[in-house]
Amino acid sequence: LKIVAEVIKFGVDVCFIKANCFSSSCSDLQFSALNFPRESQEGFANVNVSFPAMSAISVCVRVQWDPQWNEVSTIFSYAAPVFTNEFQLRGQVDVQGRILLALIIHGKHLPYKAWFPNDGAWHHICVTWRRSDSLWAIYVDGDRRDTSSNTDTSRDVYGDGILILGQDQDSFGGNFTEPFSGNITDLNVWNTSLEERHVRALNACSALTQERLFSWSLDLLSSHPVVRQVQTLLFCPGEKMLQ
Ligand SMILES: *[C@@H]1O[C@H](CO)[C@@H](O)[C@H](O)[C@H]1NC(C)=O
Ligand SMILES: *[C@@H]1O[C@H](CO)[C@@H](O)[C@H](O)[C@H]1NC(C)=O
Ligand SMILES: *[C@@H]1O[C@H](CO)[C@@H](O)[C@H](O)[C@H]1NC(C)=O
Ligand SMILES: *[C@@H]1O[C@H](CO)[C@@H](O)[C@H](O)[C@H]1NC(C)=O
Repeated sequence: LKIVAEVIKFGVDVCFIKANCFSSSCSDLQFSALNFPRESQEGFANVNVSFPAMSAISVCVRVQWDPQWNEVSTIFSYAAPVFTNEFQLRGQVDVQGRILLALIIHGKHLPYKAWFPNDGAWHHICVTWRRSDSLWAIYVDGDRRDTSSNTDTSRDVYGDGILILGQDQDSFGGNFTEPFSGNITDLNVWNTSLEERHVRALNACSALTQERLFSWSLDLLSSHPVVRQVQTLLFCPGEKMLQ
């Protein structure tokens, strides 16, 4: 059960192995999540980490979308002092009832194309970008669902920014709009552009050796009082997903 050993090394609190899962090494893991209630539009969490300028960035997160919430929703927004719409992930429901995801990089709103069903289940999302060839990608549940290379003249993602979960920042660290409703956990930030195999491993709850700028930890988050901490069991598909 290699995956279990890795998970324990990863520092996740509890690991449950389902009796019928030994052959395929799938498991349920307990995570501390944040709940952003629909009843309030105020919810947010501030990630207390100082960010350097980044020539590449990856953010992965697990999201449980509120099926009753139909507005444009910000999963995270990273704003720099000199430029607020620096790096952001948002989603919205389409007419077919799917959740479509879009990235904003350096203020440029990329298309709503990558999607997952609006089924109230947990979904694993990773977004990556690198300056060298302006390649960005959105992965859902381990699969690459959208990718392209911007031809724009590129620059690093500015450092010294503010990372907010659950709200767009219309000004640096403030004027919140387009709130998220639902649950968020296991958000991690890397200063590299992860490869598909890394994303697949993360989706299966395996650890990566890559150093992270931010590892999910409630101790480094300051939340608005309406945001509650909840415990959640996540199904991890295990190594059979890996290639
Ligand atoms: C943020 O982190 C800094 C440095 O680790 C620490 O001094 C400060 O107290 C933290 N602030 C909050 C609100 O947690
Ligand atoms: C968020 O998680 C809590 C605790 O597991 C659960 O009761 C609630 O239904 C979840 N909310 C959404 C929108 O899925
Ligand atoms: C932020 O909101 C306040 C109050 O609505 C408004 O006066 C101000 O212009 C806004 N600032 C920005 C940068 O949008
Ligand atoms: C990423 O961050 C680590 C630790 O801060 C640093 O050692 C490394 O050089 C950075 N990598 C890049 C590509 O910027």
